[in-house]
Amino acid sequence: MNTVTVNPRVHGIFDPATWTVTYVVYEKPGSACAIIDSVLDYDPKSGRTRHTSADLVIDFVKANDLKVAWILETHAHADHLSAAPYLKQHLGGQTAIGDHIGGVQKVFKGIFNMEESFKADGSQFDHLFADEESIPLGSLSGHTLFVPGHTPACVAYQFGDAVFVGDTLFMPDVGTARCDFPGGDAKTLYASTRRILSLPPATRLFMCHDYPPNGRPVHFETTVAEQKAANIHVHDGVSEMDFVEMRTQRDASLDMPVLILPAVQINIRAGELPPPEDNGIAYVKIPLNLL
Ligand SMILES: [Fe+2]
Repeated sequence: MNTVTVNPRVHGIFDPATWTVTYVVYEKPGSACAIIDSVLDYDPKSGRTRHTSADLVIDFVKANDLKVAWILETHAHADHLSAAPYLKQHLGGQTAIGDHIGGVQKVFKGIFNMEESFKADGSQFDHLFADEESIPLGSLSGHTLFVPGHTPACVAYQFGDAVFVGDTLFMPDVGTARCDFPGGDAKTLYASTRRILSLPPATRLFMCHDYPPNGRPVHFETTVAEQKAANIHVHDGVSEMDFVEMRTQRDASLDMPVLILPAVQINIRAGELPPPEDNGIAYVKIPLNLL
């Protein structure tokens, strides 16, 4: 029997505060959709959260009469908070992330001395995806690609000819993601980038972020062929040794992301806020002299 691959429509919503792109992936208006890497707005000065970015996603889903099947995370982000619980409350769908997330939760549960009842087993998410597990989404054919390196639990999601690469690759003129968070590893990221770049040349690649240099407009879609030809860190011909040396030196020069402390504490809870203390207020912690 011949099977026809259906290529998805992809709607990207760029959040200028965190340089993050949230994607809605679907076949056509009225069909099932997946939301990838949503953003909960967070003001670090006041500690206040807002839903302006997530409401843009809701507006798009409703305007196109889409049925949300999945609310996916490529990894536990360190640069923005996830709006997954808010989107699930308003749109339905199952939350999911890669099945190595428990290792990340274990590390940060220790660092933040989280409540004993917090389970470092990924059970806060509705589903955990194994490598190459299929993702049912209407007539679209989806599956995961385990692509660790930036974190030890990163996954990419492929639907038809579109791959959502998370924080592995950035646009060709930006390069690749850092590997200096707990469990990150440059050699492992190099292998993950080669896995993505071994896909057919016309495969569409969608970035989780864009940090446009030299005043170029924000852009978050490219192809395997473009990355192999021009990615400043991992174009064809860059050896693993050269990459690891470059990545290690560069990471040593980078500041921590502004939102890493609140982001990690919320995102390993699948986007839920920490439980309120006995005065009814929820807090995030700041470990001193650790990062
Ligand atoms: Fe990240």
